[in-house]
Amino acid sequence: MKALVMVATGLCMALAGLAWAHKGASGVMKERMDFMSSLGEQTKSMAMMVRGRTVLDWSVIEQAGQRAVSIGETLPKKFPKDSFHKPSEAKTLILEEPETFASLSAALVQAGHALTAAAQRADEAAFAVAFSDYAQSCKECHSRYRE
Ligand code: HEC
Repeated sequence: MKALVMVATGLCMALAGLAWAHKGASGVMKERMDFMSSLGEQTKSMAMMVRGRTVLDWSVIEQAGQRAVSIGETLPKKFPKDSFHKPSEAKTLILEEPETFASLSAALVQAGHALTAAAQRADEAAFAVAFSDYAQSCKECHSRYRE
């Protein structure tokens, strides 16, 4: 659990530093940025639970898992060819590697299912594993496909 608390602490810091400045974005670009911002918000709230700053709330975790599933499922369709100009931070590498991008989206979906299942069983150990996989999926995709 200690390693997980460190992951959660790091996440909070990383997310706090993000300026979600999607000013000027519209259409599909704005849509995906809004999805991402909501992932950021729910990640922060789960990280607070992992750190013991707030109590575990299974209904919040269940919903977060469901949202991760639905976002992950649509993500590969949200990066059409003409949507990589400013203010987007997405790399055009996504266009060159659709399969890798899809598999990283699928990792988010899978982690979302695991979060939901853990919440439905009120299983803390399963939540810890699922949250760590979930956080890993954000990190892997961002390090490869985001400026
Ligand atoms: C499969 C790839 C992928 C996954 C998985 C992913 N992201 Fe992202 N994320 C991106 C890309 C690409 C961008 C840049 C989008 C743009 O600027 O057009 C982004 C942008 C963001 C942003 C900035 C949004 C903005 O308004 O500019 C936040 C916050 C974010 N992601 C949070 C998360 C969190 C939290 C998770 C995990 C729960 C996650 N993302 C999972 C690809 C992903």
